[in-house]
Amino acid sequence: RESLIIAIDGPAASGKGTLARRLAARYGLNHLDTGLTYRAVARALLDAGLPLDNAQEAEAAARAVDLGALDRQALAAHAVGEAASKIAVMPEVRRALVEKQRAFAASPPGAVLDGRDIGTVVCPNADVKLYVTASPQVRAERRWKEILSGGGEVDYAAVLADVERRDVRDMSRADSPLRPADDAHLLDTSEMDIETAFQAAVALIDAAL
Ligand code: C5P
Repeated sequence: RESLIIAIDGPAASGKGTLARRLAARYGLNHLDTGLTYRAVARALLDAGLPLDNAQEAEAAARAVDLGALDRQALAAHAVGEAASKIAVMPEVRRALVEKQRAFAASPPGAVLDGRDIGTVVCPNADVKLYVTASPQVRAERRWKEILSGGGEVDYAAVLADVERRDVRDMSRADSPLRPADDAHLLDTSEMDIETAFQAAVALIDAAL
């Protein structure tokens, strides 16, 4: 096989990011967390003091995104993720970012891309598609523990409300809503730790190749 593309989609805090990174290492592929591209647009607008609903400014920011310079640390803030899910509803932004994501996927030796619309829109011809989920309660608990272990202080109920709000926004937008592709393999990690989820993903991928 000359080039391999693995598409991984799923809601916030489903574990798809960790899974995507480990799968890229396992299969010797490049990895792109497409959420970072939406975060980079949001961050640029926030830094410039620009509104999040101006399609022209947002498109310019999206065209300026450099995939080689995405800084996970600088884009990790909760407020940036919230802003990202707002600018992600604009078709102009999506068109500009999807173009870059497709170019990334096409370059050898292939790639694992994770996001919300990889299997449905960005790479509909991916060799394997996984849709990674977990119950909102489990995802909120993971996120909550992450925040606590980082020294932060937050209510579990607030985190859960947040996870549910983000789900609604991502699943109900008109352009490229979050949903499993018809040919995606579903992987529910509610009762799995990372290692178990990784082994399950490898089994699904190896069976599909
Ligand atoms: O995955 P992450 O939390 O970094 O994504 C931030 C936001 O970017 C998501 O809530 C979603 O609205 C948007 N996004 C998207 N399409 C993708 C990846 C992320 O719309 N492929």
